Amino acid sequence: MLRTNTCGELRIEHVNTTVTLCGWVQRIKDLGGLTFIDLRDRYGITQLKLNIESDTALNQTVKGLAREFVLKVTGTVIERESKNKNNPTGEIEINVRNIEILNASITPPFTIEDETDGGDELRMKYRYLDLRRNNVRKNLELRHRMALETRNYLDKQKFIEVETPVLIKSTPEGARDFVVPSRMNKNQFYALPQSPQTFKQLLMVSGFDRYYQIVKCFRDEDLRADRQPEFTQIDCEMSFVDQEDILQTFEGLTRHLFKVVKGIDIATIERMTYADAMKFYGNDKPDTRFDMKLIELNEIVKGKTFKVFDEAQVVLAICAKGAAEYTRKQLDELTEWVKRPQLGATGLVYARHNADGVIKSSVDKFYNEEELKKWSEACRSQPGDLILVLAGAEEKTRKAAGELRLEMGNRLGLRDKNKFSALWVIDFPLLEWNEGDPNLPASLAGRWHAKHHPFTSPKPEDMDLLNTNPGAVRANAYDIVINGVEVGGGSIRIHNKNLQAKMFEVLGFSKEEAQKQFGFLMNAFEFGAPPHGGIAFGFDRLCSLFGGAESIRDFIAFPKNNSGRDVMIDSPAEISDEQLKELFIKTYN
Ligand code: AMO
Repeated sequence: MLRTNTCGELRIEHVNTTVTLCGWVQRIKDLGGLTFIDLRDRYGITQLKLNIESDTALNQTVKGLAREFVLKVTGTVIERESKNKNNPTGEIEINVRNIEILNASITPPFTIEDETDGGDELRMKYRYLDLRRNNVRKNLELRHRMALETRNYLDKQKFIEVETPVLIKSTPEGARDFVVPSRMNKNQFYALPQSPQTFKQLLMVSGFDRYYQIVKCFRDEDLRADRQPEFTQIDCEMSFVDQEDILQTFEGLTRHLFKVVKGIDIATIERMTYADAMKFYGNDKPDTRFDMKLIELNEIVKGKTFKVFDEAQVVLAICAKGAAEYTRKQLDELTEWVKRPQLGATGLVYARHNADGVIKSSVDKFYNEEELKKWSEACRSQPGDLILVLAGAEEKTRKAAGELRLEMGNRLGLRDKNKFSALWVIDFPLLEWNEGDPNLPASLAGRWHAKHHPFTSPKPEDMDLLNTNPGAVRANAYDIVINGVEVGGGSIRIHNKNLQAKMFEVLGFSKEEAQKQFGFLMNAFEFGAPPHGGIAFGFDRLCSLFGGAESIRDFIAFPKNNSGRDVMIDSPAEISDEQLKELFIKTYN
């Protein structure tokens, strides 16, 4: 080892020992005859004291130093005169005798500090420097701990980690595939896995019983703060279980991670049906850190000559506690907010339940005090609360009201990132009618497609509806939601060949197509497939949630930007004509 200690470990009890440290120059303070250097490594920062007046060689070396130089220093640990209580090594410093420059550094493009002056794009271009910053490094340390503790827990539960291939055939998870041309098989392509779904099911047929894998998945979809084209799942599958067993096992994993990584005992994870989530939160991943449920006012408000409500399919209210004092300006701004194309509400009606008990609404012309009291009763408003009302078509309005609820939650400070509320959303619909989602391949438009994926089992009691009313069939499918983030999802699978074939038929596959694409799985089901089910957690999302961050990028060492580019290595990039030819690929403009 070049060093005896790290820059984070020396304390007062080390005084008088001779040490050698290695690290990067964080800061240089030149006080004339004395120079102080903050030396940084992964473990912390130690102050170096250099008496350059009495040592000309030292003086010479120090003059040539700058930020981010890599040094090896030897000296004695001494007690500091002015101690720094904010730094664990702040009681000592090193009286340096010898300093060796291991490598020089040009001036970094941004400061390597917690609060850096570097913008997003610049930090991504120089991600290896960004990773020197404390907060980014801590995120990756958290990620490491989470992976380790996941493995510990699952290993104790007799899960075994099995690697599945990365060059595969398309898995229909609902996004576009990334494809890889095959040189040895002219005009044929591998696809990168959107998840190891079919492989983990085949491992169950093989009798592995309990599988997991911390695994990279690839999806060519529009990117957002919580989506990357390549991301990581904690992917799991179990045999001889029902839904309850899976919920229990993975509630256990969630609980374990909260306990050992964050020191938090989380409450029992409540369960909510998909139908209730949509009804009360306008959202299939409700943030249950706060209440403010959607309240239907249809019965109360219709037939009072207010056209907007009369003509609406649904009139929905939320009660924002303590917000009655919102100014006209704030309410106008909120109205503009709900009218944005993303939400598309036509307007926002409000009623202030004032501190004196009087209720005043923006539609007083149509609703007298008596009427408004009914609103208040339905919303359980108290003096000081603000009732916000949206009206319109059912689905759109519920969604908009759900978004408004979240926005009010933000504005009222109800979404504390240090508070955690986990929830199982269960009984998802099996199918979803797809009109032609621009995010999905055109081949998936205008037909039923699987809400989770085509291997999900319908609830036995809804099986008959598959022929008569496919949209009403519920699945044995569940999501785990924490603080409004869909952290994971899974289902009990179909393990019967005929039912799987039926499912492909409902999804619009011809017999031949189904056989061609999924024959391997259906054939496997003929060799004694056990009942099985599983779940996959979005590992990046779980880490960012634990780390209290919005974006999963901060928890990925080398992430892509919103256009799916790695700006550091400048990828994707063109390849040579020679490579293209070898792969039998023509390019198009
Ligand atoms: P699903 O498609 O729900 O299920 O994915 C599981 C979890 O993975 C995370 N996730 C993502 N994270 C970051 N970037 C993305 N682009 C991205 N897409 C998904 C989410 C999600 O809940 N094979 C099934 C699981 C199963 O049935 O066992 C599957 O992949 O947190």
